[in-house]
Amino acid sequence: MSQKLVYVGMSADIIHPGHLNIIHEASKLGRVVVGVLTDAAIASYKRLPYLNYEQRSIVVSNLKGVSEIVPQATLDYRPNLRKLKPDYVVHGDDWKEGVQKKTRQDIIDCLAEWGGQVIDVPYTKGISSSMLNERLKEIGTTPDVRLKRLKRLIGAKKIVRILESHSGLTGLIIENTFVQKNGMKVEFDGMWASSLTDSTSKGKPDIEAVDLTTRLHDLNDALEVTTKPVIFDGDTGGKVEHFPFMVRTLERLGISAVIIEDKVGLKQNSLFGTDAIQTQDTIDGFCTKIKAGKNAQITDDFMIIARVESLIAGKPVEDALERAHAYVEAGANGIMIHSKNKDGLDIKEFCLRFREKDSKTPIVIVPTTFNQFTEDEFAEWGVNVVIYANHMLRSAYPAMVNCAKSILENGRCKEASEEYCMPIKEILTLIPGTHA
Ligand code: SPV
Ligand code: MG
Repeated sequence: MSQKLVYVGMSADIIHPGHLNIIHEASKLGRVVVGVLTDAAIASYKRLPYLNYEQRSIVVSNLKGVSEIVPQATLDYRPNLRKLKPDYVVHGDDWKEGVQKKTRQDIIDCLAEWGGQVIDVPYTKGISSSMLNERLKEIGTTPDVRLKRLKRLIGAKKIVRILESHSGLTGLIIENTFVQKNGMKVEFDGMWASSLTDSTSKGKPDIEAVDLTTRLHDLNDALEVTTKPVIFDGDTGGKVEHFPFMVRTLERLGISAVIIEDKVGLKQNSLFGTDAIQTQDTIDGFCTKIKAGKNAQITDDFMIIARVESLIAGKPVEDALERAHAYVEAGANGIMIHSKNKDGLDIKEFCLRFREKDSKTPIVIVPTTFNQFTEDEFAEWGVNVVIYANHMLRSAYPAMVNCAKSILENGRCKEASEEYCMPIKEILTLIPGTHA
């Protein structure tokens, strides 16, 4: 009788005895084929794995009891199952409850098409990937791992979701906040070190007056308590001769990308649009700066993203497109297109037309003004990264002003505490590592 075919699907990021037990039980039934979930399949429902697909494949194919591995490109097992027609699918019995219940039923129905069967192996107690993930978060990350993460996320996700951080506390919020939506864990993929909020939180204008050293000193607070990647707002990148130093410094810290804007002279915040005097660099001038940065970087993974300010300066989409293609030609690893128009039509037109000529270069947008669109809609336009560029600070400020006013109005802090403040007990235990 020919040997039975047994299919096991796994992410296999951190292999633990639970995985080995499943493979062991599966191998008793026949020849084991492991469907290793690709980065994209994993990123569709949870955090990107620590190891990339190639690394995880090497580990799994060398495990005792595994005959073969195949990529599983979707969370849904069925495309692979229909191709391989296994006799059995083996999985831990934890999937009988909770969000995986439906996946299990779909597989049972699919296997029934050729008489296959699901085998539930008793779950190994005391160990799980989610538990190990929590522990790893506590240990932290290295600059190298953090730096590489952004490129991997862009490759694996439909859209990468970034939120502004200007302190250790906002970093923690971005690291830990999540919601469950249709059984999926939805969270932020990384942080934006915004020049606007870095400056504003210091009571200074957004005109490159807060120097790089000071900004990095503060960013370090967030780096210490988080593992997610950072995109740094490099303003104009400074003088061509200075930009290579910025690139090297950011790279050394494990920052994944810098975005520089094609402006010269005194930088003003883009959202002033044509109300402020803002001069765009020449295409040649900005390409020289991009090249100087690319020549300076040491790793392959650090990204220099060119920010096109044509629409901010009141110029047409054609001008933005001409510049964007030239900047990519000069070595830019991504294009940020910015606008302060509320209808978003200029951004949409730019994205669709840019994609006609360039299907690969990541597009980054900052929808502060055109905020009616969803991430799914942006993804359809061809956008890869969406940055919510100032929302932590903009939400905190009115809350603090209201609290301050309440104390003044009431001559005491009872009302402010009850209406605007978190309980004392909560703040005392908010930070991991705090003890009573
Ligand atoms: C920032 O957050 O500092 C930015 C984006 O550069 S914007 O404020 O829209 O110019
Ligand atoms: Mg800025």
